[in-house]
Amino acid sequence: MRIPDFNEARTRDKREYKRLDFELDKDVLGKYSGKKYFIKTYGCQMNEHDSEVIGALLEKLGFEAVDDYLKADLVILNTCSIRENAHNKAFGMLGRLKHLRNEKKDLIIGLCGCMAQEASVVEEILRDYKFVNFVFGTHNMHELPKILDRAIEENQQQIEVYSREGDLYEGLPVVRTNNYKAYVNIIYGCDKFCTYCIVPYTRGRERSREKEDILREVDELIKDGYKEITLLGQNVNAYGKDLYDDYNLGNLLEDIAKKDIPRVRFMTSHPWDFTDKMIEVIGKYPNIMPSVHLPVQSGSSKILKLMGRRYTRESYLELFHKIKSTVKDVAISTDIIVGFPGETEEDFLETLSLVEECKYDNAFTFIFSERVGTPACKLKDNTTLKEKEERLQRLNEVVNKYFLENNNKLLGKVLNVMVEGTSEKKDMYYGYSETNKLINFTSPKELKPGDLVDVEITEAKTWSLDGKVK
Ligand code: SAH
Ligand code: SF4
Ligand code: F3S
Repeated sequence: MRIPDFNEARTRDKREYKRLDFELDKDVLGKYSGKKYFIKTYGCQMNEHDSEVIGALLEKLGFEAVDDYLKADLVILNTCSIRENAHNKAFGMLGRLKHLRNEKKDLIIGLCGCMAQEASVVEEILRDYKFVNFVFGTHNMHELPKILDRAIEENQQQIEVYSREGDLYEGLPVVRTNNYKAYVNIIYGCDKFCTYCIVPYTRGRERSREKEDILREVDELIKDGYKEITLLGQNVNAYGKDLYDDYNLGNLLEDIAKKDIPRVRFMTSHPWDFTDKMIEVIGKYPNIMPSVHLPVQSGSSKILKLMGRRYTRESYLELFHKIKSTVKDVAISTDIIVGFPGETEEDFLETLSLVEECKYDNAFTFIFSERVGTPACKLKDNTTLKEKEERLQRLNEVVNKYFLENNNKLLGKVLNVMVEGTSEKKDMYYGYSETNKLINFTSPKELKPGDLVDVEITEAKTWSLDGKVK
């Protein structure tokens, strides 16, 4: 048994790690043939991509995917710790699984992801969720086959979570959810330690993948017919800093853009370290999508300082306008937290005025959620939940106003859209524009997911656009 500890997780040193090739233990290959699995994924794209790897590992063991947890012999919850409600959802699901286990004695239940990295969660599982068969963390996904096999063979709960990142494994299998768009990890972990955020504790130190490994993966995806690639990291701007003196995200984006791939995206960019080279490259290559997620969190420099964000309102706005003026028709989206400890009405009004200035194309807005173990927990909270909820509502009214205003500007324009599928009513297709806008549209000819088509915009709504292929 191995229980994680945040005191260890927060340490950052230049300890060497190795780049190793993953090899599956031959003894377990196909051992569980005929058994069915279901993975429930919470949280960010990184977790979604991890689930694609977990699924592939299970398939090597012989498991087959099913689309309903009630039909599965093995259910894995890939969890997220970012806010309290993510926690609550996973525990709610565990409650349902407990009932299911009473009816289905052989059901195997596993938990992984960011919540597994929290000692308090693991202790709760040891105490109140004894029916969970195994827990593994974000640093040892490659050990899943061994841990799962032991949980079944020994019929005993396995808790194997490392506090800190270990070696970096290449060559893990992956079953992709899609056959036209794919996620590619470029950097793991986060060293920014924003004071409210749990990610640096659950995902460890920043570690870049070697550029050759990334470029090889991209080449394989292109060969397999993929049309869109999203480069993933909690902070992609830090790419390369731990490995190279003169190769960074700007270089990587450029090397990928030169390949025969119609769409390249990247997520997420911290405003810190967003270099001029990056802006130049994004503006230069038409296949790098003009869509930048640039989380601001707050419009008040005082709150940004308390958040440990490393930029001020002024320097954020300077960067924002530089991107807007360099990258043609770029859409910028953001994340905002309200009710951070110490946020006064004046601070909040500064956030509203920043939103009025930036007129974001999209924004994810949150109420501050206290995460045990992070520095923000020690700050004195000065607003009630009711005040926070009111601020969130006022903020949402303003962001929504600009979503609609921006969408209205697209009326009559022709946008290139990647088809995702048909809408529920089946009479319309839906897909995403280069700027990541959701478009519902009709087409005289039949289309399939992954097709790229030009759509004329006929109607603008707050969260989507309607259009037609001519
Ligand atoms: N690495 C990304 C953010 C990943 S988390 C970045 O720094 O840009 C996604 C978003 O969740 C954050 O941008 C933030 O707005 C929100 N978030 C993170 N921790 C939170 C907390 N404790 N309470 C509320 N929102 C939080
Ligand atoms: Fe969290 Fe900040 Fe890292 Fe983003 S940059 S993951 S908000 S610590
Ligand atoms: Fe959640 Fe972990 Fe992602 S906390 S947002 S799943 S990195």
